[in-house]
Amino acid sequence: MAAPDLTTFVGATRLKNPLICGAGEHVMLEDGLRAGLNAGAGAVIVKSINETTAGKEQLQRTDYTLLNAIWREQPWDFSPPEGASLLCRSGLAQQSFEDWLDLVVRMDGEAQAQDAYAIASLIPADINHGLNLARRIEEAGVRILEVNIGAPHGEEAIKGAILLERDAARVRKITAAFRKAVKIPIWIKLTGQSSAIDALATSARAGGADAVTIMGRLMGFLPDIETQAPMLGTRGAIGGPWALPLTCHWIAKAREKMGPGAPIIATNGARTGLDIARFMLAGACAVQMTSAIFTGGFPVITECLREFTDYLIDKKMNARDLIGVAADRITAYEAQELRPDHWKTFLPDAGI
Ligand SMILES: Cc1cc2nc3c(=O)[nH]c(=O)nc-3n(C[C@H](O)[C@H](O)[C@H](O)COP(=O)(O)O)c2cc1C
Repeated sequence: MAAPDLTTFVGATRLKNPLICGAGEHVMLEDGLRAGLNAGAGAVIVKSINETTAGKEQLQRTDYTLLNAIWREQPWDFSPPEGASLLCRSGLAQQSFEDWLDLVVRMDGEAQAQDAYAIASLIPADINHGLNLARRIEEAGVRILEVNIGAPHGEEAIKGAILLERDAARVRKITAAFRKAVKIPIWIKLTGQSSAIDALATSARAGGADAVTIMGRLMGFLPDIETQAPMLGTRGAIGGPWALPLTCHWIAKAREKMGPGAPIIATNGARTGLDIARFMLAGACAVQMTSAIFTGGFPVITECLREFTDYLIDKKMNARDLIGVAADRITAYEAQELRPDHWKTFLPDAGI
């Protein structure tokens, strides 16, 4: 077979491949953004900003710890063990908005020359301010805007720093306001801390989002077994490969509600090239990868693209062929054949 076609579409936007380097501290500055693009990402999302000084200040209070599968701290040496989780508190970009915007414009120009995108990202604190920033982003010539209205730290960060929206009606209203403010594609990134993420996704689409990004990380609290204090001293956002099935669940639910063409971007749980395939099989048209790159370094991008390509070669498929294939094969529990004693094969040996 000829080399597989990695091209995918997020709404009307064509990406050369579905790997999007998601927003984080490693893509706040020029070097990191360039490294993400040079490693081959279809797009890089520039570290989010908003209008508040609280958001910037929050970045001075960040901390991060990498944990293995039994919650022991691991060295931060850019070779995280398989299964590692990341517990952290993050903040927002520290540059002035003008400097940040200048950076996004420059990087989006560089990205364009590589058939890629550098995407602006807002985590608004106040919607009216957010709309103003969105207008300035569009006027400056940036081609895509992601608006994260569900950052996990919303309720723990300094008051007024970050908006965390869980109400479907308000998601629709907020999205509609951004839609009215700008014409460039808007991706709405949704919280993972809701029991109705599919409803939030349909609301964002109804409000005019070009795509929805599902789903932000969850908040956690991990007692340190030695010191008996909270790890990092606070609650924190937590993510790991274990989050992938949770995210796939909501992507598939959202696809069920919105229909097969639904422009859904996955985030939360991708660690490998095969995870890109898993998210696409669940219904995503593209996949954001953040922790894997933050903790593993930019070569993770190239490695994941290689693994993803090998998978497509093996399956004789192109990237777009994967979208929703597994989601559309989900059956109901009651559709399963009856196997009366099957459960007994899973019991532990009761003899001593
Ligand atoms: C250190 C760190 C910083 C982050 N900063 C941002 C941010 O500025 N804007 C944003 O929308 N998401 C941010 N995120 C969320 C990620 O982009 C991503 O959605 C989340 O980590 C789940 O995906 P992952 O499993 O690939 O890490 C951040 C995540 C981490 C770990």
